[in-house]
Formats: sequence, C-alpha cells, structure tokens
Amino acid sequence: MASKLSGTDGNRLVFFCNGKKVVDNHVAPELTLLTYLRAKLLLTGSKLGCGEGGCGACTVMLSRYSPENQTISHRAINACLTPICYVHGMAVTTIEGIGSTRTRLHPVQERLAKAHGSQCGFCTPGIVMSMYTLLRNRPQPTMEEIESAFEGNLCRCTGYRSILQGYKTFTMEGCCGGSNGNCCMDQNRSGYNEVEEGVSTSLFDPTEFTPYDPSQEPIFPPELMIMQNDSPTKILKFVGDEVTWFRPVTMQELLDLKVLYPEAKMVVGNSEVGVEVKFKNQEYPVLIDVNHIPDLTKIETTPTGIRVGASVSLTSLNEYLQNVVLTQPEPKTRVYAAIVEMLRWFAGHQIRNVASLGGNIATGSPISDLNPLLMAAMCKLQLTSKRGTRTVKIDGNFFTGYRKSIIGNDEVVLTVDIPFTTGNEYFYGYKQALRRVDDVAIVNAGMRVILEPGTNEVQECRLAYGGMAATTVLAKKTMEKIKGMKWANGLMEAMSPLLLEDLPLPPGAPGGMEPYRQSLTLSFFFKFYLAVLEQINLKLPGLSGSSIPRSYKTANQRLHTNPAVGVQMYQDVPSGQPESDAAGRPLTHQSALKQVTGEAVYVDDIPSITGEFYLGVVLSKKAHAKIISVDSTAAVALTGVHSFVDMKDVPGSNAVGATPVKDDLLFADGEVTCVGQVIAVVVADTQAIAQRAARLVQVEYEDLPAIITIQDAIDQNSFFHASNLSVKKGNVDEALGTSKRVLEGEMKIGGQEHFYLETCSTLVIPREGGEIEVFSSTQWPTLPQSMVAEALGIPRNRVVCRIKRMGGAFGGKCTRPGILAAVCAVAANKVNRPVRLTLDRDEDMIMTGIRHPFLGRFKAGLTETGRLRALQVDLYNNGGNTLDLTYSVMEKALFHMDSCYNIPNVRVTGHLCKTNIASNTAFRGFGGPQGQMFVESILHEISTKYGLSPIHIRELNFYKEGDRTYFGTELKNCNVDRCWTECLKKSDFERRRRDVDQFNSENRWRKRGIAITPTKYGIAFPLVMLNQAGALVHVYTDGTVLISHGGTEMGQGLHTKMIQVASRTLRIPADKIHISETSTATVPNTSPTAASTGSDLNGMAVKDACETILHRLEPFIQDDPKGTWESWVMAAYANRVSLSSTGFYKTPDLHFNWETSEGQPYRYFVCGVAVSEVEVDCLTGDHQVLRTDIVMDAGDSLNPAVDIGQIEGAFIQGYGLFVMEDYRMTPTGHLLTKGAGFYKIPGFGDIPGEFNISLLTRAPNPRAVCSSKGVGEPPLYLASSIFFAIKDAIQSARDDAGIPRAFRLDSPATAERIRMACQDQFTKQIAQVEEGTFTPFFVRP
Ligand SMILES: Cc1cc2nc3c(=O)[nH]c(=O)nc-3n(C[C@H](O)[C@H](O)[C@H](O)COP(=O)(O)OP(=O)(O)OC[C@H]3O[C@@H](n4cnc5c(N)ncnc54)[C@H](O)[C@@H]3O)c2cc1C
Ligand code: FES
Ligand code: FES
Repeated sequence: MASKLSGTDGNRLVFFCNGKKVVDNHVAPELTLLTYLRAKLLLTGSKLGCGEGGCGACTVMLSRYSPENQTISHRAINACLTPICYVHGMAVTTIEGIGSTRTRLHPVQERLAKAHGSQCGFCTPGIVMSMYTLLRNRPQPTMEEIESAFEGNLCRCTGYRSILQGYKTFTMEGCCGGSNGNCCMDQNRSGYNEVEEGVSTSLFDPTEFTPYDPSQEPIFPPELMIMQNDSPTKILKFVGDEVTWFRPVTMQELLDLKVLYPEAKMVVGNSEVGVEVKFKNQEYPVLIDVNHIPDLTKIETTPTGIRVGASVSLTSLNEYLQNVVLTQPEPKTRVYAAIVEMLRWFAGHQIRNVASLGGNIATGSPISDLNPLLMAAMCKLQLTSKRGTRTVKIDGNFFTGYRKSIIGNDEVVLTVDIPFTTGNEYFYGYKQALRRVDDVAIVNAGMRVILEPGTNEVQECRLAYGGMAATTVLAKKTMEKIKGMKWANGLMEAMSPLLLEDLPLPPGAPGGMEPYRQSLTLSFFFKFYLAVLEQINLKLPGLSGSSIPRSYKTANQRLHTNPAVGVQMYQDVPSGQPESDAAGRPLTHQSALKQVTGEAVYVDDIPSITGEFYLGVVLSKKAHAKIISVDSTAAVALTGVHSFVDMKDVPGSNAVGATPVKDDLLFADGEVTCVGQVIAVVVADTQAIAQRAARLVQVEYEDLPAIITIQDAIDQNSFFHASNLSVKKGNVDEALGTSKRVLEGEMKIGGQEHFYLETCSTLVIPREGGEIEVFSSTQWPTLPQSMVAEALGIPRNRVVCRIKRMGGAFGGKCTRPGILAAVCAVAANKVNRPVRLTLDRDEDMIMTGIRHPFLGRFKAGLTETGRLRALQVDLYNNGGNTLDLTYSVMEKALFHMDSCYNIPNVRVTGHLCKTNIASNTAFRGFGGPQGQMFVESILHEISTKYGLSPIHIRELNFYKEGDRTYFGTELKNCNVDRCWTECLKKSDFERRRRDVDQFNSENRWRKRGIAITPTKYGIAFPLVMLNQAGALVHVYTDGTVLISHGGTEMGQGLHTKMIQVASRTLRIPADKIHISETSTATVPNTSPTAASTGSDLNGMAVKDACETILHRLEPFIQDDPKGTWESWVMAAYANRVSLSSTGFYKTPDLHFNWETSEGQPYRYFVCGVAVSEVEVDCLTGDHQVLRTDIVMDAGDSLNPAVDIGQIEGAFIQGYGLFVMEDYRMTPTGHLLTKGAGFYKIPGFGDIPGEFNISLLTRAPNPRAVCSSKGVGEPPLYLASSIFFAIKDAIQSARDDAGIPRAFRLDSPATAERIRMACQDQFTKQIAQVEEGTFTPFFVRP
C-alpha cells in the first residue's frame, strides 16, 4: 500500500465544464478552479473579487453524482477557494454555460439585465450563478430562499433592491415590476397610494420575460455517471511540481497517507486551508482530500443524539438537523435548533456548501461559531489514527492554545456526537459580528442549563464563549457558582461580576474593543437568562421571582429582515415624445446583456498576449523607515522570474502625481513613507511566481517615527502646506459672542475603502517604435497616459490609454491607477514585453488609499429658537503620505459645510494632515458628505440639547430659492424645500415619529429611531480647468453611429446616457448608436469621470458633435423630407459631406475668489431628502434599517432606471460609510481590515426592509444636458439619515438609563459604538481604561 501511495504516477484529471469534457494529464493541483477556468479554459466570465470566499464574484455551480443513492446535487461554490482537483468526476457550470448573447439568454440572465440589476457588472456573473443554482434546486423559490441564496454575494454598485425585485419574478407570487399599480413591492405603502398623473412606478415589464422552464436545463453528463457507477472507487493522486493531491476513499488509505506524509494537510472545503495558502503564505506540498471516505461523510441519528462525520458539509448538516428539529419532539432538539440558527449566520451558501464541521473544529479558531455550541453541548469526538481510536470531549481542556487542540498530528477527526437535550434542559447560541450575514464573530457563545425537574434550580450550566481569549473558553467560575441557584430575579446581578472575572480582556488585547466585547458577554447571558425564564414561566407559571417586565419582552428577540419591498417613482416622458427619442426612458444599461452572460470584458479578462509577463509587487512593510538594503538574489533565482525592477530602471521621472506637486514616487527612493508603498517589482511568467518571488526579496529597514492618525498629525504638526483653505462670511467672532446659545464639539468620520469589486488592473504593451499601449482600469485615461509618458521620458503622443469598462471605481480609480500603469510601463520597457498587473484584493486595499478620514472641531452660535447665527469649524483630513487629491477633497468639504442651511456668519478652515498611511484619494462625494455630516450633527445636537423639534429647527434654517450660499453662489433650481415637503409626506413622518415614541416607551432593550436628512450637493470640479469634455461622433453610411467621448464607464450607465443624448439630438433610435471604449487616441486630454459631472460634460460634448452632424445633414433632409435617416446619411456621403465630428463643452461661469470667499464653484446644486427608521438592539449594538424613503431631484432624469440605481447604490454605500464600514489599522500603520473577510461592506441582508425612491417631478434643470442633473454622488450623504435615526434610538435608551441625551457619536456608528453609547447596568460594571495609558490593538486613522 505504501508504495502505491508514494509512487510518482499521477492520475489524470477529468471533469465536465459547461457540458464539455475536460481532461488534464498534467494538472497542477495548486491551482484553484477559478484560475483554471480563467487561464486554461479561457472562461473569464467568473471573476476574482477577493480570492477568499467573501464576495461571491467567482460563484459557479458544482454538480455531483452520488452512486450510493443515485442522486445528483447542485451546489453553488466559490471557484476561488476550490482546488482544481476537488472537481474530479464532477460537472462545473459557469456563467458561460447557461446562456449567451449569441445563442439565447437564460431567464436568470435576462431578468437581471432587464430589471436593471447590473451596473458595473463585475459581481453579476456570481449573482447570476447563485440564482441559477437555487433554481436548479427549487424552480419556484420563495423570496426568503432567494435572499438567503445571496448571503455569499456582494455588490458595491446597485444597492441590491433591483436584483431582488428582478428575481422576485421567479417566485410563486411573481412581480409585475411595479407596472400594475398594485405591485407586491409597494402594496399598502403609506404615502404612496396616490400616484400623480404622468408618474410611473414601473422600471421593467415582466411580460417581456422568457418563462422559466426547468425541463430545458442541461442534464448531468451521463459519462460521469457511468464512470462512477462502473469503476470501483479507488484512491487518486495528482502530482504537480509544487503540490501532490491525494484523494483516498478509505480510512485505511487516509491513515497510511498520514504516516507517509506526516506534514500533509487534510482538506475538506478548503475554506481555511485556501485562505492560509493565498493570504498567509503557507505552503502545503501534500494535500489530502478527505471528502470521499464514507466513514467521514455519514450523518446518522443514534439513541443518544446525532453522529456527524467530520467531512459532512455544513449545508448537509443544516438540512439534516432542520429535519430532526421538525420531526423529533422539541425538548430533544434544542441544541440542533441552536446550531441551525447559528448556521444561518455562518458565512454564505457557497462556503457552507463545502465547509465541514470537522474543518471548523480542527482549525480551532477562537471565533469559530460552532465550537462554543459544541463545547456548551458537551459534544464528543472520535479521533482515529494508526494508534487506534479514542473518544474525547469538547470541554475546557480541548483547545490548548491559539488554533491548537488536543487532536494529535497523526489523528483524524472521525465523527462528532451532538447529544439530544432533555425536557428541563435549555440551550441557546449567540453571535455578534460587524455584519449580521456572512461575517466572523466579534463574540459568540453557546449556553446550556439543566434545571432540577419541576423547579427553577440550576443543576448544571455550561457557558462557552468565543472571541474572548485565544481559544473558545468556558466561564468556569460562573458555571460553578450558579449550580443550585434559582433561575430567577437577582441571578443576573449575582453572575455578572463572575462572568467578567471569567472572561477578562486586558487593555490592548488582540481584537481590541475590549469593553464592548466584555459587555457582550453580559448581554448574551442576560438574553439567555430571559429566554430560559420565559420557558420556566411557560412550564411553571407564577413561580416567585420569575416575572419578566413587559418592556423586556423584546430583549431576547432576534432582529430579522422581511423580504425587501419598495416603490420607485419617476416622471414618465411626455406623451408626445417621439418613440425614437430614448432620452428620459428607463433604458437597460448598454452593457447589461454582456454583463449577465459574462461576456463583458474587463482589463484582466483581455486574453494574454504572447510573451506577456506578470508583475509581483515588493511593498513596504514599514510605515516610515530608511531603506538600508534590498536583496533580490533569491527572487531572481526563482525559475520563471525574468527581472527585478526598481527606481534605477526608471528612464524618465520617478516622481509623478495628480497635482503639480508630484510627490508620488513610482518606486521608493531610499525611504518608505507608508506600509504598502512600492519598493520594486518582480517580472515573471505568472502571477503566482511573481508574487512568490516578490516575497523572497529581502528589505532591511531602519525605523523612523511614524504618524498614523489625524491626532498624531495634529500633535506633531504634520501638515501639507496649503494656502487658501479658509472660507469666511460675516463676523463669526462677534456673532458667537452675542449668541444666546453656543455649542462646541468635535466629531470624527472614519475612512472608507472603495471596495470596487474589480481591483486595479493594468496591461501595458510595448509597440513598435517606442509606442506604448496601456489598458488600465482608470476613471481618467489621460492620467495613465501622462504618467507613463513621464516615467518613460517619452512624448504623450506615443502613449495611448484604453478602457472599455471598470468593475466599479467610486473615485478610487481616478489617480492611483495612473501610478500603477507607470510602474508597469517601466517594467515593460525594461524587459520589452507586455506586462500585466492585477492587484489582489489585499494588495489593492493596502496600496491604493481610501476615503479621507475627517475630524471636525466646531463652535456654533444660535438664537434661542434655534436659528443658526454663526459657525466656526476647523476640519482636518488624513491625506496619507502624498498630497494626491487631499486639497480638493478638503475644498469640497469646506464648500459643503452649510448643507442646506443659511448661516449668516461662517468661518471654515481646512487642515491637510500628512501621515504615514497610503495616500488617500477621491471617493464618491469627495469630502462633501463629511462636510455636510458635521453641520447636520450640530443641528441634531442642538435639537437634542435644547429640546427643539428636529423638523422645525431644520426648516427654520433652510436656504430659500435665490439665497446666496456662504461662498456667494446664488441658489437656483435648488428644490430642497419641495423634496423636504414631499419626503415628509411620503414617509408619513409625523405618524411614524409617534409610533416610534410609543414603541420606545414600551420597550427597554429595543429602541427605534427615525430621522430626516436633506442634502444639497454642488456639481462641478473644484479645479475649473477640469470642467471640459470632448467627443467624437462618427456616422457610417449604413446609418449607424459610433460615439467616443472622454468619459469612462464604471457601472454608472454613462455610455447608456450618452447614447440617449445622441438619440435625442440626432432623432434616431438608441439601437443605431454604439459606444465601444474610451481611448486617449480618439478623445484627448480627458477629465476624470468624477464629481457627478460625467453626463453633464460628456453629454454636452456629444450633443455638440451630434448637432454639427445634424446641421450638415439638414440640406439633405430638406431635399427629401420623406427620406429616412439612412437615406440622408447616404446622400451626405455621396455629396462628400463629412459624417464625423468632434464636439466640445466647457462649463460656463465657474470661478471662485479665495481672497473674498466669493464666487461660483458649482454649476448647480442637486438636492434630496431621506427619512430612515431603525431598530436597535441596545444589548448588542446590532440594528436593522426598517424603512427608508428618498425624494431626489434628478432634474428631467436622462434615464430613471439608471438614476434610481445610482441613488440606491450611493445610499447603501453611504450606509457603509456612516454605519458599517470600520477601517482599522495597527498603531504601527498596518491595515487590519484587509480583504472581504475583515472589511465588511453592506450585503443583501442590510438594505432597508422598505426602500422607497421617488424622483422629484416637474423639475427640469436648465443648466445641464437635456435638463437633467448629475446624481452619482449626491444621494450618498442621505444615508446619514440612518446614522441619525440610530442616534435617536440610542437617545431613548439613554433616557431610560437616566443619563444625558446629548452625547458624542462618531461615524461609523458601529455595533460597538451603539452598544457603548447605550449605557446601562451592564456596561457600568466594565472598567474603563483611560486612552493613552496602554497601546491599543487598533487605531482608526
Ligand atoms: C468567506 C469565509 C467565511 C467564513 N465564515 C465563517 C463563520 O461565519 N464562522 C466560522 O466559524 N467560520 C467561518 N469561516 C471559517 C471556515 O469556513 C470554517 O472554519 C469551516 O468550517 C472550515 O471547514 P473546511 O472544510 O472548509 O476546512 P478546510 O479548510 O478544508 O480544513 C481546515 C482545517 O481542518 C483540518 N481538517 C479537516 N478535516 C479534518 C479531520 N477530519 N480531522 C482533522 N483535521 C481536519 C484541515 O487539515 C485544516 O487544517 C469562514 C471562512 C471563509 C473563507
Ligand atoms: S473571488 Fe471568490 S468569493 Fe470573492
Ligand atoms: S454591479 Fe455589482 S459590483 Fe458593480
């Protein structure tokens, strides 16, 4: 046996992909399925978004035949974590396998496209495949099943509503797309019952959809069934250069392998091992797939409980336990019910479909969700090895250290025994995470108590906690002391001090948030106490000391989402508008069909070019240090490595930058100024070799003092020099001195990672005669062009930068991709080969900067009635190590400090902090949201402190049409008052305010809050020069039109809108018009597609070009008025009239004088108003957004579907900014919240339960193309309504606790901050350690 296992012969890999057989005689087992699909099978539809199972962009369907029970299973899996050998004998279906634009679309693809569920399209293939897999298992799913199927998928663009609504059409109830006036999505929505004439609520028409016929789905490949039925299962071995993969089929074979290869790693779902290999640089030369050993895959019911094979997937476990819970008497199944509940919050479907119980236990993570339950339930494991089999308990001695347990190196977990419970035994599980769905726990717990029969006396109690130490731990003293006590009033008070003793967290403990985590230990126990008390009350009514106050009833209930509903309202085009005029109609995104079929090409999907190399980046590991030496010997010695490139190889300028300061370096020059700075790059055959080689480069540093946070920068006086960063109006000092009320304070707004689903990607191709072609995922093609030219010391006319589309950008791809392109160009120039660099998610997050964190220190003066008289604010933003756009971001913040309020005396000053973190950059809103947040916070504070109505105080201070802002701009077509009145009405604010107050008076531990927030957002680039755009329009003799313009498509529907503008101008249908790409060769000197100016600038340029052409066609139209567009075009051609024209536009009247603080920095303002209502769990800090209503002024919307999509997407992104996304670093400047695993953006489950959007009607904007308004950025800030609703809810909790209502709440309002602001008898018991007396585990920069 041993020789057979250790021999060198390998098996050939056989699987089916999209119905075709794939045979590989020399498979490299270290490859993931995703790499194999993309690089070997050239199926680039499946995307790499994170590489760690956290985003779902790589989702494919895996079908497997089981010869034992002759069934076929279909499961959604993450191809990025699936080792290629795992799929041997199985069938893989990718997005390309279900439909295409060339053949037919699958209904799952068609419906997503037509329901506007795809914007940038990068998440789309994964979302389609999750839905497709669900349909293969449940042809008519429920809405709950649909929402659950997307737990493992993220989208950064859409805000999710459109996806859910599109797919609702597959449910039994279906969905009319809002068209029948009584839509399931908007039934009985108060405030929306009356629909104005000319207003539509329908964004798509489901009658157009192809019906779904499950019988038309492809069958499982018969060849694979025959293969598995006929040939006896035998051990398999795949041998590669780096990894050997074994697939044993008996325990004996597995144990033999463990002896032969003691260091071999067993793999089941690879959800831990895959992450270790990819991100923790672990190398496992021998992997053993233990999915095919019957002893490990069985699950059965025994007389004492359930016995689960260690390789049983969590999905199978869940299904089995759900059935047991349904079929067995309730008292027996309490542990199983708790496990089922916990699995609901454990990762997403893709992970649960492959991850195993054994893998979870063996990993021994201190934040494992299952270990606390298994420990509390006193589960037993069978461990087996060549030495024999033993049974061990998962008790307090099982875990011996961080990720260590008593499982021997040679041992295999065989089974897990999970016992039945008895009638007087209660069992519950608890988990709190940053995001409810698909997130690892901050703290979790399993709790079990056995009461003496017929009494409330504790016989035994087990309390197991995760997230409180290096291992899952038992609260031993509490467990001991509680024995014999009565489960009744007073228990909590008696046990709390013991729990805190059992679960100490010293200041600076790994994970941080020490007081919060300690408070959770008490909160969970309190919830457990109440839950058991409820059961006792049911069983033994009237027992003394068992009463539960009425207001406590909701304390133990879970927050849960109802399937999302909502209305989308917009003004229809006028009845007389010609059919051919596409402007104003909800046209589907121009690329939607390509996106839903995986045919849309992003930079990394461009097929590799012969001779192409890949770059691996050598990044600084220090925030600030001198570079003593760099040794690349080991890296260049690696097979497949071709060159090592650093600053010495830059033929032109190593210093570049988006501003004239040019302080960004391509390669570090003797010193590093942030973690993640590029020191050098390694050029190699593949990404894997390049990355391995980069890790082998030895850099010796000498540490220098590092500045990380804004406070560090203030303390050390570290600022970028900036003149002109103060805007003044009136006499602030006098007004403050004479104000009846003066309010002073400080607030911090954290940074935000862009988390565009497509990371930054570049391909540089050296062409003949020194020409360079650049493909870059950039919002600003001119920047890579100019930076490449500068770096190589060549003229710009030798460089062309091209971009078809990006997978999201949000400002993050404005400037930083230029630097990456220049780095690639230097390498390509050195090796004279095409060079590609697509950053891994962690690299992207470390290197490319974030939304600027802000600190505001303010003083406001007001009258007794709440009229603002004076505002003085000092704003600080954290710019990072280079200037980049820090100045402009601050400028935008300074111009938005007024939000919608008329303040007669203002002095706002900006300070640009220079720190040792990666340079921060543009992000949707560009400082505007932060500026507005400060003033809104001041108003919130004022209304709380002085008991003024939040509505009244805002109305009192509102600007009126025609007023001038504090920087002297007259407000025209502003419409904030209309949005305000309409939103108050539509949201039914006053009634709901009363309902919220009523709810709060009846509930002590659950609180609701409601808030209304307006926005006013200025449209134009602060740098006047950038407010220009060019276009080039060609008309071909068949009448088709090709448009090029300077804007880039990143999902925001810009190309679609440009086609609509051209359609209106040329008076032809949209389907005659096409946009292929953006290129500096067709339209030069482009401005960034940013600042919500994309449609305004490029639309006007396109219009200009189209008008020129139309003007030239006019004589032919007059000659032949009955002719067609095609005949006029042909006539013009025949008469040698040019059918091609450039177009140009510059925004008029933009100016600003910093000396006088007067001018017009913006062309116009976009206004909107949102009302949000939340419910907060005061014991954990968890919350749920119950409802949001938005009224937004989009002018005469160019495309209501696109604009509503932008509003929803921006709002959910803003929700991330103000509530969910917590960006953290070590005090030494290393990013902690790296990757999808630790940085949590909102998911499907986080959107408001009811999400209503209305575009303001009859509000044409004379200042932009087709009377529209730019809406890319303005709605983002409206998400602060959720922040203030949360603050409102916390205030009620503070009222109950008898502490002041007014308190400081920084953004984001994370669960930690919410909980710690709801102070009560539990938080009071936790010792507070003064800041500065210890080194914290993390800081927020
Ligand atoms: C995106 C994502 C989300 C996640 N979310 C959660 C979450 O919410 N909660 C949570 O607790 N965890 C979570 N995890 C962690 C992980 O998914 C779980 O720990 C999972 O149960 C591991 O199972 P696996 O089969 O994939 O393990 P693998 O990666 O295959 O193996 C893990 C370890 O177990 C060992 N092992 C496997 N089988 C045996 C056996 N029979 N005997 C001895 N050793 C064995 C392996 O050798 C390896 O060391 C998440 C992971 C990812 C990537
Ligand atoms: S790329 Fe696979 S889950 Fe993100
Ligand atoms: S459309 Fe989902 S990430 Fe862009």
